[in-house]
Amino acid sequence: MASLNDIKQRSIPNHIAVIMDGNGRWAQQKGKDRIFGHQQGVETVRKTIETCVEIGVRYLTVYAFSTENWKREPEEVNALMSLFVNACNAEIDNLHKNNVQVKAIGDFSMLSRECTTELQRLIDKTKNNTALTFVIAISYGSRWEIARAAKLIAEQILQNRISIDEIDENLFDNYLQTNQYDIPNPDLLIRTSEEYRLSNFLLWQLAYAELYFTNVLWPDFTREELFKAINDFQRRTRRFGKTTEQIKNELK
Ligand code: IPE
Ligand code: IPE
Ligand code: MG
Repeated sequence: MASLNDIKQRSIPNHIAVIMDGNGRWAQQKGKDRIFGHQQGVETVRKTIETCVEIGVRYLTVYAFSTENWKREPEEVNALMSLFVNACNAEIDNLHKNNVQVKAIGDFSMLSRECTTELQRLIDKTKNNTALTFVIAISYGSRWEIARAAKLIAEQILQNRISIDEIDENLFDNYLQTNQYDIPNPDLLIRTSEEYRLSNFLLWQLAYAELYFTNVLWPDFTREELFKAINDFQRRTRRFGKTTEQIKNELK
């Protein structure tokens, strides 16, 4: 098992993104309601934030609720939303004390007034913090974000502010929410619960992320599990299309 000392020997990923999956199964395995698993999941988020601050990760993005999750039973959706409001409320002082800056991405038009108010309060209070940027993806879907960017660019063209020839990867990227909030692309993506898919999460931004899958369910994802994921990341060679030799020469 990788220890704190092991991972501190090498460079820490700047941005870790997490698909926190398996809360429902975790609870069901214990004979409890799915929401019990979500409650435990919030605890795991709290601990993960603290560990990221401790080891110097600069950005942590968590997938809290997808655009597709609106299709779940209303009972579960409502419970998740109240849990979210309560967690924002309960954690605001702690996050601020830990110098964590909170940001959010997603289609907020779908969220209740109460939810957006709490979220905004959290964002406003922590906006000058510098240790870790904690990004909450809520009511977020990558296809929604990409379609939104296309719409925004089309509007700019109709208003003659940009020409079609100016559209390239960089320009497109500028219209994604992540770029609008100055969030860099993730270096490491972690997905828990033995599912090997992206479920509409940061499809554009994850183009060159290192992917790490574990069968641990999110409520059981401890600090040691995070170290294990980082340790695994640190043993990868990121080539970005180049050869290993080229990368080695660049490091000399
Ligand atoms: C992830 O856990 C949290 C959300 C999607 C909100 P799940 O609720 O998907 O848990 P499983 O996958 O059913 O176990
Ligand atoms: C992905 O988990 C979304 C979040 C973790 C918020 P899901 O449990 O919704 O993903 P699928 O439906 O199994 O792909
Ligand atoms: Mg799931």
